[in-house]
Amino acid sequence: MANSIRIYILVDSEFHFVQCAVPRRPQPVYESEGNITVSPRIVGGITAQEGDVRGIVSIQTIKGNHCCGGTWIRFGNRSQILTAAHCIFVDDQLIPESFLHLLQIMGDDLSISKSSPGPRRQIGKVRKIVPHPQYSPDTLHDDIAMIFLDKPFKETSTFGSIQVADENVVDNQTCSIAGWGTTAKSIELLIANVSVVPREICNGAHSHDGKVGPHAFCAGSMHGGTDTCQGDSGGGITRQNRLVGVVSWGRGCGRKTFPGIYTNAYEYRDWIEKTIQLENVSPPITQSTVLMLATVFAAIFARSIF
Ligand code: ARG
Repeated sequence: MANSIRIYILVDSEFHFVQCAVPRRPQPVYESEGNITVSPRIVGGITAQEGDVRGIVSIQTIKGNHCCGGTWIRFGNRSQILTAAHCIFVDDQLIPESFLHLLQIMGDDLSISKSSPGPRRQIGKVRKIVPHPQYSPDTLHDDIAMIFLDKPFKETSTFGSIQVADENVVDNQTCSIAGWGTTAKSIELLIANVSVVPREICNGAHSHDGKVGPHAFCAGSMHGGTDTCQGDSGGGITRQNRLVGVVSWGRGCGRKTFPGIYTNAYEYRDWIEKTIQLENVSPPITQSTVLMLATVFAAIFARSIF
């Protein structure tokens, strides 16, 4: 069901590295009966211009191989990356902490080219990844995760954090999608508009047939044509520059009757806020706990000596 992108972690006795691997074969698109074309990236999109997609980042290996998209989100006055949980899982396991230094987050560049980075490209290091606790690799329900960087990105005229929408999406609304879909021949960011497809249609027997989770929504077109695709996962779907969802899964790409599935960011506002708060209070708590324990041990030690 899910065309999930995988980051394969290969462990060698001498060294280990993370490698992004995406399906080599592009997804076929069935435009109409008997007419099959191959459309390996955002389907029906155009090349983005600077500043078009303010918060988008590319989640990569340190070798610069693109794995997934993500969005730099602002919540209160904090900034962090929101992505899909399946982007940080490998073979149904969360990427271990000891591998996080092999990932990087690229921002402020329309191109993911390794050889000619844009002049403003920023690279962030990953400090922590937090998947939604209920995320299920089987159903892809609750496919949302947060990535905390060791240092915040710098806001520029073309790159910055965006807010999570404070209103739910409404059927037939127009939203924007963007991504680098790694199987693309082009390394440039592509964008497209899609509309929200009513749940009763896209989760019906002739479409995704009950697989769309309660906190996900469908967007695209029942006629096919415009859609996200492999490698676009984790990226944002926006409306009026607010984040309304996260690219999660689909069936093929741009196929008629199978619109793309997006985790509904609005439904996860509380989880996002709590996760951010926890992340920001935990260092002082840990430090003071360590200090407290040290004092207790010192006292016990002193007693046993004297
Ligand atoms: N799961 C895919 C990824 O990992 C995204 C698929 C989106 N597909 C779609 N038809 N909308 O990149």
